[in-house]
Amino acid sequence: MCGIVGYVGGQSALDVVLAGLRRLEYRGYDSAGVAVLADGGLAAAKKAGKLANLEKELADRPLPAGSTGIGHTRWATHGAPNDANAHPHLDNPGRVAVVHNGIIENFAALRAELADRGHALASDTDTEVVSHLLSESFSSCGDLAEAMRQVCRRLEGAFTLVAVHADDPDVVVGARRNSPLVVGLGDGESFLASDVAAFIAHTREAVELGQDQVVELRRDGVTVTDFDGAPADVRAYHVDWDASAAEKGGYASFMLKEIAEQPKAVADTLLGRIDEAGQLTLDEVRIPASVLREVDKVVIVACGTAYHAGMIAKYAIEHWTRVPCETELASEFRYRDPILDQGTLVIAISQSGETMDTLMALRHAREQGARVLAICNTNGSTIPRESDAVLYTHAGPEVAVASTKAFLTQLVACYLVALYLGQVRGTKWGDEVGSVIRELSAIGAQVEEVLETMEPVRELARSLAGCGTVLFLGRHVGYPVALEGALKLKELAYMHAEGFAAGELKHGPIALVEDGLPVVVVVPSPRGRSVLHDKIVSNIQEIRARGARTIVIAERGDEAVRPYADHLVEIPPTPVLLQPLVATVPLQVFACELATVRGNEVDQPRNLAKSVTVE
Ligand code: F6R
Repeated sequence: MCGIVGYVGGQSALDVVLAGLRRLEYRGYDSAGVAVLADGGLAAAKKAGKLANLEKELADRPLPAGSTGIGHTRWATHGAPNDANAHPHLDNPGRVAVVHNGIIENFAALRAELADRGHALASDTDTEVVSHLLSESFSSCGDLAEAMRQVCRRLEGAFTLVAVHADDPDVVVGARRNSPLVVGLGDGESFLASDVAAFIAHTREAVELGQDQVVELRRDGVTVTDFDGAPADVRAYHVDWDASAAEKGGYASFMLKEIAEQPKAVADTLLGRIDEAGQLTLDEVRIPASVLREVDKVVIVACGTAYHAGMIAKYAIEHWTRVPCETELASEFRYRDPILDQGTLVIAISQSGETMDTLMALRHAREQGARVLAICNTNGSTIPRESDAVLYTHAGPEVAVASTKAFLTQLVACYLVALYLGQVRGTKWGDEVGSVIRELSAIGAQVEEVLETMEPVRELARSLAGCGTVLFLGRHVGYPVALEGALKLKELAYMHAEGFAAGELKHGPIALVEDGLPVVVVVPSPRGRSVLHDKIVSNIQEIRARGARTIVIAERGDEAVRPYADHLVEIPPTPVLLQPLVATVPLQVFACELATVRGNEVDQPRNLAKSVTVE
């Protein structure tokens, strides 16, 4: 969603801001704009479409050079993605510029009020009211940070705002409620951005802004207060990855790079969390063992791909701990009045740590007295900060909009939590769990093995470029894998794709099967839960009898399934519950290749945003 950059320092603000916006492109956007303070005035440019359009505009009509500036990539909410609605928005005299991420819910009333006072508003956005209100407040108090505090107290909704004023040329002011905003502290320069990626090339020293805080950014440092002006507590931290981690490194797309990084991401997420005796050492989960022993229900909340990780976690948690577990779409959770209490452990899974639906779900859970454990990939983000505990995944920055390596690390973190719960509660803590922990430690190498054998999958994908529909089937943990395969294909290849529990086929979806329809089937191991294996082999025969072209993902050596597979993709043997870690990889490669061959933008699929900061 919208990306924000602010800069004050000794460099060309325009260069720093544009480079920062490039780094935020992955968030998804449909217009872009910048404003710089120069020569005692304010100059701005904005354009619908990609940054290249804005850069062309700047080449045709250059802005004066200045060392204070702000920039924005907009993901449209109020008003079409055209030039007029692009940010920044200025006041009528053109002295204030504002960029915004989020939604100002009471903007209509504020707009009417401003119109009554003679302001002329030029866009359909909710943001524009802020530049006009700031202009009025600054005229009476002469201090941009104070003006921002006064305005924020009048706003309802979720917002991050960043503003500059031509009469306060060495200051950038930001305000944060819900939507993300991070400060970067350089040597004689300071940065503000939606994400550290925007300034990581300049500094790795960051400050996390809290809820309802206003920051005044100067070259020599920052001052943070709450909306009433009282000094606020902030957390400074060092970013543990550098600019190269957020670059393509020779790959054609970030997605290809991130798929290839999965063995390392998985290994990094396990690092230091299993000791030599095979015991889990999750000391960072600050929920005391005594509390975990009392947990009588686990509820997992998440969205999209993270929700699929949560669906798989349910199988693992219930099997290894015997504690009842539900997995819920975060966007539905709080609206159905769920039953939660102090015995409930809520696990919120989020790569970005900023997904508004997940954040709202965890806030609701905490209000009801539940404990919340976040599984998150982004240090300094809101979801871990508002949770009782956090288990970080160590996927590194995930830039492609479609989640790949974050998903695998979310799975690893879920397995760790499930096993840890089993360990502290002493449930099912026997040979099976010990061997699963050993196999989990080796899983990175198996993911690597899968990646090395993906050429036939790419070839198959290319042959299906003209298809309209692909179905995905699975049972047990293979069912969420099927859903994930379908989601990847929808979002990347823009193809109609549906995932089903294979057992549900005969209850309706089998009517979709016709001659030549590609159906991907995720087959459980023939070892362990062989009943499931045999049932899915029957399901494959049923669809094949009706003309489906079967693409079967099965364990190496599974001879029973071979006769029914038009295309067989072999994956290494793993314990049943861990199979999603290897079975998902071919589906990612399949979707990525289909998107490429269909000419789609793999890293930034249409209409999508990386971090969904509105409900
Ligand atoms: C799909 C995808 C999304 C995210 C979802 C949650 O490839 O990336 O479905 O998984 O928007 O995002 P996070 O994990 O940041 O909360």
